[in-house]
Amino acid sequence: MVEQTEQTISPIGRFITFEGGEGAGKSTQIKLLAQRLEKAGLQTLVTREPGGSPGAEVIRHLLLSGIGHLIGGAQAEALLFAAARDDHVRTLIEPALARGVWVLCDRFYDSTRVYQGKLGDVSPALLNALQDVTIGTMQPDLTIILDVPVEIGLKRAAVRRGTAAPDRFEGETTDFHRKLRDAYRQIATAEPGRCVLIDADAEPKLVADRIWLAVQDRLLGWPQAKVKAGAKTAAKAGAKPGKAKAKAKTA
Ligand SMILES: Nc1ncnc2c1ncn2[C@@H]1O[C@H](COP(=O)(O)OP(=O)(O)OP(=O)(O)O)[C@@H](O)[C@H]1O
Ligand SMILES: [Mg+2]
Repeated sequence: MVEQTEQTISPIGRFITFEGGEGAGKSTQIKLLAQRLEKAGLQTLVTREPGGSPGAEVIRHLLLSGIGHLIGGAQAEALLFAAARDDHVRTLIEPALARGVWVLCDRFYDSTRVYQGKLGDVSPALLNALQDVTIGTMQPDLTIILDVPVEIGLKRAAVRRGTAAPDRFEGETTDFHRKLRDAYRQIATAEPGRCVLIDADAEPKLVADRIWLAVQDRLLGWPQAKVKAGAKTAAKAGAKPGKAKAKAKTA
């Protein structure tokens, strides 16, 4: 079951998604950001896709087992991802945001756009329709795209995996992962208001500092100079008040 942590009290709910290729450091960095936000007195919930809610976790198991190859490829996979996302958004993300929690999600719809859209050739029309049904107008407040050279990401993923077999996506070719990296970079360029591209080819602590700087700038309204002072100093300054996330889901 996915790890979910909720601590302390928050006046503002924000939705942050983490994206990037295999081994980019999403799962590592999402925990570090949650720790920093919690130190700043903000209530956080860490979740992931596919999965994150009990129903969606069952679908995750199917997807990572490679069922897409058996049931018709990337389009069928996209439908399963959408079913999982619908459950995840409805039962976990929306209620948490409504309570003022900062939701940090390890992968979200950009992964669908990249894996099933750019690399799987699922039509933008279908992906847009699925997005309308599952999340409606609910956009992440910030999407952190972790960028590392393909070889480094795959090496990290292999070290983490040990002797276990690669999953459906880890087992793809280097060319696949290179296209994947390019697709994420294109999204970052196309949507600079929502996305920030982070150079993740560095020590975890340094990458975490870069992410924290972006979160401060984009969501907390803290001056950049505060990043060096760390979360404790920043917390004393207090978070800039903002509106709780308004959510509109069409399904
Ligand atoms: N900045 C880093 N430098 C070196 N190793 C790292 C760094 N960040 C994470 N790692 C290590 O690389 C491996 C992959 O990291 P992590 O699981 O966070 O990546 P991920 O993006 O979540 O991967 P996946 O897409 O496969 O879920 C882990 O063993 C982790 O400890
Ligand atoms: Mg991960």
